[in-house]
Amino acid sequence: MQRPIAILDSGVGGLTVVREVMRQLPREKVIYFGDTARTPYGPRPAEEVVRFTDEIVTYLMQFKPKMIIIACNTATAVALEHIRSRVDIPVVGVINPGSRAAIKSTKSGIVGIIGTIGTVRSQAYEEALKRLNPNIHVASLACPLFVPLVEQGNFRSEQTFETIRSSLEPLKEIPLDTLILGCTHYPFLADTIGEVMGPGVKLISSDSETAREMSAILQETGKLAAQPELPVHQFFCSGDPRLFKRIAQQWLGEQIELTPVVWQIPQIG
Ligand code: DGL
Repeated sequence: MQRPIAILDSGVGGLTVVREVMRQLPREKVIYFGDTARTPYGPRPAEEVVRFTDEIVTYLMQFKPKMIIIACNTATAVALEHIRSRVDIPVVGVINPGSRAAIKSTKSGIVGIIGTIGTVRSQAYEEALKRLNPNIHVASLACPLFVPLVEQGNFRSEQTFETIRSSLEPLKEIPLDTLILGCTHYPFLADTIGEVMGPGVKLISSDSETAREMSAILQETGKLAAQPELPVHQFFCSGDPRLFKRIAQQWLGEQIELTPVVWQIPQIG
């Protein structure tokens, strides 16, 4: 039996990482969990996000994955170490890969980060960037209105443009040349974010770098999928399956097999 890669997020955001994993390693089987019933994670206390992440990992472990990707910055910021201490397979987060890509990109040494309230409050990006380059200047901004837009499938509208424009205004004052999309939901809005920030600012999302890190670990450990035929991926969500399916099919460009999960929190937690 082929062991899958388990990928999780608070909702549809982690699909941005899934798309890169499928593109870079098409033979790997993906099991995805989007906790759409409890999204957004961003404004929640850290302990709650750790508990939710823990519950999802418990659920996903029944599929005997060979690796877990926490495709959620908010959960990576507060729960990565906890999950690593719990399971005996590699666990990859999205903050270090995104930080590496930003360091490679910046010429001015001034990097912006947009993310959820939880990610910005944790300062996880600042720490990761400064570990790589202590001279880097960092400007962080929480954009709590973006995730609900994405979860509603509202990627391009007048309201979306206006929300993004007004939210990003404080960053327009700062001479940054690189902006980290520090939330896996934000690549869905990348066109508008790019339009608002202008051509002098390069947008960095952690999806491709995270998939590369995953690929390197699988290669080093000799665990790359070997079967010639393409795998059947599986998607789970805890909330309304129709909207999730529509967004997933639109983003991934393929039919998906979706199983709604009814959480019975006391039994799973
Ligand atoms: N996509 C997630 C992240 O990268 C979570 C967004 C949220 O649920 O608030 O942080």
